[in-house]
Amino acid sequence: MNAPVQSLKGLDLKAEINRLRKERNAVILGHYYQTPDIQDIADFVGDSLDLSAKAAATDADVIAFCGVRFMAEVAKILSPQKTVILPDMAAGCSLEDSCPPEEFAKFRAAHPDHIAITYINCSAAVKAHSDIIVTSSSAEKILAQLPMDQKIIFAPDKNLGAYFNRKTGRDMLLWPGACIVHEAFSETELLKLKAQYPDAPIAAHPECPAFILDHADEVGSTRAILEFALKSPAETIIVATEPHIIHQMQKAAPHKLFIGAPGADGNCNCNMCPYMALNTMEKLYLALRDMEPRIEIDEETRIAAKRPLDRMLEMAGATVGKGAMGPRG
Ligand code: 13P
Ligand code: SF4
Repeated sequence: MNAPVQSLKGLDLKAEINRLRKERNAVILGHYYQTPDIQDIADFVGDSLDLSAKAAATDADVIAFCGVRFMAEVAKILSPQKTVILPDMAAGCSLEDSCPPEEFAKFRAAHPDHIAITYINCSAAVKAHSDIIVTSSSAEKILAQLPMDQKIIFAPDKNLGAYFNRKTGRDMLLWPGACIVHEAFSETELLKLKAQYPDAPIAAHPECPAFILDHADEVGSTRAILEFALKSPAETIIVATEPHIIHQMQKAAPHKLFIGAPGADGNCNCNMCPYMALNTMEKLYLALRDMEPRIEIDEETRIAAKRPLDRMLEMAGATVGKGAMGPRG
């Protein structure tokens, strides 16, 4: 078990993490939803697809994954010979929780003429029951390679699935899962904000419900949202995804104003991912010091889950996107 966080008072966590990263030959991968201190110490910050490709390609012995558990599992599935540590093993995901593997297996069995295209936000066991994994940045490209009459189950995010149904003209059968963070945005509050900043484009993640996406100028993965925010000539951008991504925007374009889209009461923290928030600098330090918590996946599940992930990486032609680079990025 990790030592209590209180006992770390007075430690220079940044220096200690840097020392341990070298000692362990570790790479620190971070998602855009992590707190700024973690994003700044990571070797590479990216979206789910870029982080998967990076985990598959790294020559480090240890991957310290600052994201949620399913992301760290992907790193272990793709790089089984590496030690993968996650600062807090309780960093789950509401989408993963919404799709229990036994229920998913039953659902699949009830639709034998469908293939299962599954969003990467799910457990290794659900991946093992899937044909192709997608991320929000790879789904469209992958769907374009499948015949239009191919029957498809899309799980577990009903909002993402519905978005791709609308975008591609398909009629995929949707698993009824959702992300608690992206479901928390309020259309009323968004429109009030838009009235205040009429020239500000809205960039939204496709995990948002249609009533938010309908107002968006750009819909895309975290990386796509970041790129849009930086390329747009607008001086103010409204960002409808987890607001910690704004850290990268502000670093790259300090002269612009980036405003997180509001939740129900206009001023709540409900659009911050409570799972991502479990990872802290203290826990990252402890994980590197103690080499735990470690991701372990039984070999049968790992091999079964790797197949649809490899198909994703092949079909997406996944080379790592630029992301944000740190010391060994
Ligand atoms: P991205 O693939 O866009 O990084 O999304 C991951 C995620 O969990 C969004 O909630
Ligand atoms: Fe899961 Fe939503 Fe958090 Fe992304 S933001 S990790 S989908 S709970």
